[in-house]
Amino acid sequence: MPRSMRALVAGEVGEPDDVLRLESRPVPLAEAGQALVRVTATPVHASDLHVLRGRYGFSPEFPTVGGYMECVGRIEALGPGTEGLRIGERVVDAAIPAVPGPRVDGTWQEYLVADAHRLLPVPDRLSDSEACQLAVNPLTALLLVTRELDVQPGEWLLQTAAGSTVGRLVVQLAGHLGIRTINVVRRRDAVEEIRALGGDEVICTEDEDLVQRVAEIAGPAGVRKATDCVAGQLGAQVSQALAPGGEVVVYGALSTHRQTDPAALTIPVSARSLIYETKVVRGFWLNRWFGAASPADVLDALCEVRSLVVNGVLTIPEGRPFPLERFAEAVSFAEAPAHGAKPLLVFDVGRPEDDRQV
Ligand SMILES: NC(=O)c1ccc[n+]([C@@H]2O[C@H](COP(=O)([O-])OP(=O)(O)OC[C@H]3O[C@@H](n4cnc5c(N)ncnc54)[C@H](OP(=O)(O)O)[C@@H]3O)[C@@H](O)[C@H]2O)c1
Repeated sequence: MPRSMRALVAGEVGEPDDVLRLESRPVPLAEAGQALVRVTATPVHASDLHVLRGRYGFSPEFPTVGGYMECVGRIEALGPGTEGLRIGERVVDAAIPAVPGPRVDGTWQEYLVADAHRLLPVPDRLSDSEACQLAVNPLTALLLVTRELDVQPGEWLLQTAAGSTVGRLVVQLAGHLGIRTINVVRRRDAVEEIRALGGDEVICTEDEDLVQRVAEIAGPAGVRKATDCVAGQLGAQVSQALAPGGEVVVYGALSTHRQTDPAALTIPVSARSLIYETKVVRGFWLNRWFGAASPADVLDALCEVRSLVVNGVLTIPEGRPFPLERFAEAVSFAEAPAHGAKPLLVFDVGRPEDDRQV
């Protein structure tokens, strides 16, 4: 008889509270080139909730196992001919679906099968919380700074939502690389936190005018490189703060995080500044990067991120664990104002399988 496992499944598009159910499913079998991973921890990212609500950049077939980004676990079995991994090894699954690309199962389940090339071995000195958050936000920070904008030592980088996980990682990475950061936060309390992390300049939009402060810090022409994950009017101010020929990479829309306010999802940009000052406003999406990058580039970038975390250059904020059966609390925690930590679904490895609640 096939073994069974618990999986958190959405039957249709809708509010996560309405559509998510714990189900019992057979443990999948690893095929050639794949590994069976017993998951120990997996985050609830805002993007996972956007997918369930039908507001993300791709839509899976429903019913779908939720959690489309990343997890950590141990390899329990290898498919025929799978090389480079061993049973018992602890691995991160960079499950981010490539776009365009084939559909993959989500990570909110006790076991999953993954192609060997998306599994990254991680040392035991990384906690489950660090390891299960390695692939999305630290990788995004690395790619934005070193690939998308190629910011050089001594250059200014302007970023919004510096208090977010990605923002804090950008501050740390920039400090390590000798890049000077201008960090925009919305709360006064965050100013000292960002300075303590190594942020060079912090602009608090509660008290200060972004465009004016950038001109004071970087000079009247503005900055050449910026990232924005807030969009709306703040995104527009970032484009105004750019120097001629400057570039802002937009990668999030936190000003309407559920993406329900069309005005906040829009970034009003002056056509004059695009034409006469040749400013550039463009997007970045990790899923599309996965779709375009070669497997060797993906592996290089993931290994680089792993070293930065293992060597203490990047500190991933500690997540807040929720046992799988308390998924509804994890979802509401993910959306609570100023929740601070990333909710992590954790699996009660070691408890007899018959005892677990479905
Ligand atoms: N495009 C991609 O491939 C990609 C990849 C990774 C992440 N992202 C996006 O990047 C963004 C950050 O992700 P994350 O996981 O780092 O988020 P997070 O850790 O959940 O951080 C959210 C924080 O951002 C700040 N914030 C929220 N709304 C804001 C607003 N309107 N103005 C200024 N600050 C605001 C808040 O910090 P305070 O409470 O301190 O104010 C909030 O706690 C999200 O939009 C996410 O979807 C995109």
